[in-house]
Amino acid sequence: MPNIIVRPDWQLSEKDITPESIYQNRRLFLKQLGFTGAALIGGSATGCGKEPEAKVAPSVAASKEAANPNSGRKYPARRNPEFNPKLPLTDAEVAGSYNNFYEFTLVKEAVKNKVGKFIISPWSIQVGGLVEKPVTLDFAELEDSMPLEERIYRFRCVEAWSMVVPWTGFPLSMLIDKLKPKSDAKFIRFETFNKPDQAPGMASSNYPWPYFEGLRMDEAMNPLTMVVTGIYGKPLPKQHGAPLRIIVPWKYGYKSIKSIVKIDFIANQPKTFWETLASDEYPFESNVNPAVSHPRWSQATEKVIDTGDRVRTQLYNGYGSYVAKLYPKV
Ligand code: MTE
Repeated sequence: MPNIIVRPDWQLSEKDITPESIYQNRRLFLKQLGFTGAALIGGSATGCGKEPEAKVAPSVAASKEAANPNSGRKYPARRNPEFNPKLPLTDAEVAGSYNNFYEFTLVKEAVKNKVGKFIISPWSIQVGGLVEKPVTLDFAELEDSMPLEERIYRFRCVEAWSMVVPWTGFPLSMLIDKLKPKSDAKFIRFETFNKPDQAPGMASSNYPWPYFEGLRMDEAMNPLTMVVTGIYGKPLPKQHGAPLRIIVPWKYGYKSIKSIVKIDFIANQPKTFWETLASDEYPFESNVNPAVSHPRWSQATEKVIDTGDRVRTQLYNGYGSYVAKLYPKV
């Protein structure tokens, strides 16, 4: 279990609020894993400036509940110009008011109003399975120690809606390299928190909680796959999966699991939450593919959530140059 820390004021550094001995131990622990804290030295930087800037969602800007008291220094992160589909950004308020987070409610527009009791600090992530040293990571320490960058990705939900969003985070491969999985680890499995007292949808439904997902190791190591800690230049608001989630932009949105507490490296393909519920509708691979209809609807087009425009869906959501090589049989 993580150390219990009374939630600090936004401005206080972790050093100010954590007993010195605990603070030093955690530093040592992360250093042993090769987390250097380089990002702290770099500080934050603004984006390239040429792309359209999205309005910052008030719910994000006003948040005093950051999972990491040091986050303020890291956002907005430098924008990586390689990842910019040159499409208008979805309005932040729209993206933050139309969420799939079944732990809270099935009503997309209501998620942001149901997350009030969700506690995101302190937050730890347990890493186990086929890995050299099973560890428990403290989110704040992890975020402090990783170099954050902003990438604009297209995001396509299996329900045939889409958005274009600036995510902040780092490549999952960077974390995996530090965790040192064993050579027989062929898959990675993620699990979300399990707290029905904080998430009303968990208490009122019979879904097989907690939410769980998985990727092949080569998918996890692909440079597109991100650990995401922020959106629109701010730490992730709760409805988007605070404090950390995965984004896999060439797969349907349900693969991008939110609010992760557990990561396991495993030898065999894991079951996933949605596959367990309906394997013919939500198979493990779930790459965006306009030619393969969902059993109940076409995937040929998608509705852009803020404009309502209907546009053609692209194979791999437009990311074929990065990932087509992973799927030689398509
Ligand atoms: N992760 C968890 N834990 N619970 C969920 O219900 N929904 C998934 C995915 N990750 C979900 C989840 C689905 S279906 C989608 S489309 C995206 O989150 C939505 O992400 P967003 O709300 O940030 O747009």
